[in-house]
Amino acid sequence: MDLQSLRYPIIQAPMAGGPSTPELAAAVSGAGGLGFLAAGYRTISELRADIAAVRARTEAPFGVNLFVPAADRPAPGPVETYAELLRPDADRYGVRLGDPVADDDGWAEKLALVVGERVPVVSFAFGLPAREIVEELRGAGALVLVTVTTPAEAVAACDGGADALVAQGIEAGGHRGGFTDEGDLGLLTLLRLVARHTPLPVVGAGGVMDHAGVAAVLAAGAVAAQLGTAFLRCPEAGTSEPHRAALTSASATALTRAFTGRLARSLVNRFLTEHSAHAPAAYPQVHRLTAPLRAAARRAGDAEMINLWAGQGFALARDMPAAGLVQELGAQHIR
Ligand SMILES: Cc1cc2nc3c(=O)[nH]c(=O)nc-3n(C[C@H](O)[C@H](O)[C@H](O)COP(=O)(O)O)c2cc1C
Repeated sequence: MDLQSLRYPIIQAPMAGGPSTPELAAAVSGAGGLGFLAAGYRTISELRADIAAVRARTEAPFGVNLFVPAADRPAPGPVETYAELLRPDADRYGVRLGDPVADDDGWAEKLALVVGERVPVVSFAFGLPAREIVEELRGAGALVLVTVTTPAEAVAACDGGADALVAQGIEAGGHRGGFTDEGDLGLLTLLRLVARHTPLPVVGAGGVMDHAGVAAVLAAGAVAAQLGTAFLRCPEAGTSEPHRAALTSASATALTRAFTGRLARSLVNRFLTEHSAHAPAAYPQVHRLTAPLRAAARRAGDAEMINLWAGQGFALARDMPAAGLVQELGAQHIR
């Protein structure tokens, strides 16, 4: 598998937390783009079933994305202080806040699964996997992509053996996907700087919403565009109803650590406004802490209390089937 062999230079971003269903990934891959499953927060049996469900729908290549676990553990004090602030919200929903454990999201088991399943494309967020892991995946036939947000991360990923990079600009919806959450370059600048520093093929992600955006990313040297928010309103996506509704009514996005302890771009809502200033940099502890509260709010249809990941271009997202969207995005760039 090589990114140049895709019919369309369109990658559907992995979107953990529900949106990236097998139906969405299969529709995108089947249409000639590259669909992705997100391994983040899935159990090993759910991920295995997701991979089988994509394969049952299409023979086209697809990807799986994994979160690299953090090496360091932040001190528990700031998380406990934050939990005190969130308690009134939890009480209002009659739920207990989650246990703020720093788990690794089943890292070793998920790696073994994608190797064993010979998944065609494997991408990483939140860090650089060890070279042995990259080599093991390549030995199992995978193309290995690493998400970067700075030129220095791009050089490290290149030295670490990645086949290609996903350059994520600050416009992007969801978590900052770099080795830290501090990279803050716009996508155009990042693409040009990364091209100067490494010879690897680069995928551009962040704020790309239509064929003009795709053309801009390709003109800046990218081999393909990776789009998340543009797919959130597709019928095949697992986007929750309050999230879908907010995408049509919100007026702005902002970066926040309030939901998970790692900077992420969300539509602005009450939780973000009230808690961003107090949230500690402690991922995944804060993610675990707020999870029951967010799940209760989602069940109640309350968009003010859930993470509404979206990129800066969210107002351009449309309610249309994924295959049609891929064809429209890529029509002028058929290979
Ligand atoms: C709802 C949502 C969930 C996301 N989850 C992941 C994820 O699990 N892994 C990952 O590498 N990136 C994730 N991202 C970031 C995307 O890979 C990509 O960088 C981003 O969607 C690009 O910006 P855009 O949303 O403006 O298209 C997520 C983005 C969104 C909107």
